[in-house]
Amino acid sequence: MSDFKNKIKHLREDFNRYKIDFKNLPEHPLSLFDKWMEQALNENKEANAFVLSTVSNKNIPSSRVLLLRDFDKKGFTFFTNYNSIKSNDIENNNYVALNFYWPEFQRQVRIVGKAEKISNLDSDKYFSSRPRESQLGAWVSEQSTVIPLDTAFANKMENMESKFEGEKVERPLYWGGYRVTPISIEFWQGRPSRLHDRVRYTLDKRKWKSDRLSP
Ligand SMILES: Cc1cc2nc3c(=O)[nH]c(=O)nc-3n(C[C@H](O)[C@H](O)[C@H](O)COP(=O)(O)O)c2cc1C
Repeated sequence: MSDFKNKIKHLREDFNRYKIDFKNLPEHPLSLFDKWMEQALNENKEANAFVLSTVSNKNIPSSRVLLLRDFDKKGFTFFTNYNSIKSNDIENNNYVALNFYWPEFQRQVRIVGKAEKISNLDSDKYFSSRPRESQLGAWVSEQSTVIPLDTAFANKMENMESKFEGEKVERPLYWGGYRVTPISIEFWQGRPSRLHDRVRYTLDKRKWKSDRLSP
């Protein structure tokens, strides 16, 4: 076995930097998410990256990294291509899972919820705030389709630039946001001896209830 594979087997990090205060849990999970996200972002400028898992119409799961662009009590918003694989999956089954991992804090957050497209107006607003290159990129890419090996995006970008020259780049209708309305949010805090702190909030008759889970 190569050295690094042997290393993986024996890598052990003890988790002892933070804990969950089970006696003073906020009523709404968003308060805790807000605090953890703010702390994570102070340490890592990509702390808004998360893994989104969806299920296909053949019940095959699929995960990919996305960036969270907004969140509030109504839900968690990300942007993507509405013709992509993830969007097709959501069309078929809009229950999705989000997973944030913040190694700097030995923390994980697991969210389950229902994804729905946000309004065209809200997608327009966000799209117009993106750098022009990203806006053009959205026009150039048919996300998740198979393309020829010799595809030259530089040429396609140039063509797109001349198409929109001197004009605002409109949002392609196939590009926009989803908001995930959560039904369950689990907070996981690494602790010594693998006896981690876990609290799971679940929606019960429109009210959040919290339960401590065994590590
Ligand atoms: C750090 C990081 C951030 C990403 N952010 C996004 C994003 O916000 N939206 C998006 O559509 N794809 C994003 N991607 C690309 C996705 O992981 C994925 O490749 C793409 O959305 C196609 O996924 P699909 O074929 O499952 O639909 C990101 C990838 C990485 C590694």
